[in-house]
Amino acid sequence: MKPLVVVTGVNGQLGWELQQLASAFTSYDFLFANRDMLDLEDTDMIPFFFEKNKPDYFINCAAYTAVDKAETEKGKAFLINALSVGEMAKQCAILDIPFITISTDYVFNGNGADGIDKMPYLPNSSIDPINYYGLSKAEGELLAKKYHAKTIIVRTSWVYSSHGNNFVKTMLRLMKERPAINVVVDQFGSPTYAGDLASALMQIVMALESGNTHYGTYHYSNTGIISWYEFAVAIQQKTGLPCLVNPIPTDQYPTPAKRPVYSAMDSSTITADFGIKLHDWKESLTKFIESRLVTPIT
Ligand SMILES: NC(=O)c1ccc[n+]([C@@H]2O[C@H](COP(=O)([O-])OP(=O)(O)OC[C@H]3O[C@@H](n4cnc5c(N)ncnc54)[C@H](OP(=O)(O)O)[C@@H]3O)[C@@H](O)[C@H]2O)c1
Repeated sequence: MKPLVVVTGVNGQLGWELQQLASAFTSYDFLFANRDMLDLEDTDMIPFFFEKNKPDYFINCAAYTAVDKAETEKGKAFLINALSVGEMAKQCAILDIPFITISTDYVFNGNGADGIDKMPYLPNSSIDPINYYGLSKAEGELLAKKYHAKTIIVRTSWVYSSHGNNFVKTMLRLMKERPAINVVVDQFGSPTYAGDLASALMQIVMALESGNTHYGTYHYSNTGIISWYEFAVAIQQKTGLPCLVNPIPTDQYPTPAKRPVYSAMDSSTITADFGIKLHDWKESLTKFIESRLVTPIT
């Protein structure tokens, strides 16, 4: 029998990209779980899901990702991003299977690693979230590690995909609708194409299958550190849409949740421990935009 990989959050960006890749991994069976099959607001049901499906690998791509709404829906964010992550880790421990779960650059405060301005964060840098979403994800990390030694946490940042809502799709829409747009110039990080991350997650599964035991916390983003403004300018230049992109400071774009001003992460340990190749953010964006020209996006 083939090993069964269970993936949550199949209707989200990353879960959807994993589903697109699955047919290339013929030595595995996959079960893509949507909210109806596994509702992470109902933690009592999680053990039944595991008993019924008996995964060999579990990849949790589901999360409460509404960063601003999390400031007012704290209970819901904590249940999905922290308590149920802990429960899934416990169930993976019972089955003695690897638990891979995704976290975020928003666990960091934005002052740079060790408080050094513009120093990319390492997986072992101190975490200090400045918004509730980041806090709920940080607590999920702690619970996952507490309940299961065979946990791999993959922190990522600024995720986009052809499926779901994200900055790139919003920019493309606004650039078609408006002659000019304002984009924040003083927040820095690294974009991540969800297809690249999905492929990295499958490389981790295959490495584990071959006996790799590098459990722990990792970072995975596309390489390069930019502002949202630079990201928007690149999108405009690659598409040639006739829209002017104006840089604005964060205080001219107030949001309910504070964002770290700098959340770039050093992803080198995922390459060292799993042989995963990192991709340049501009190359991934180019591939993404070119693929959109072939297949219009929903
Ligand atoms: N998006 C980013 O920029 C970003 C940045 C850093 C880290 N991350 C992390 O990366 C991971 C993947 O993010 P993403 O961008 O793919 O997220 P997404 O597109 O917002 O998808 C989230 C998924 O979680 C599911 N979900 C939410 N509540 C659920 C519940 N109660 N029970 C079961 N499923 C539930 C959603 O289901 P429905 O479709 O039914 O709503 C959706 O499929 C998450 O861990 C996220 O925190 C994302």
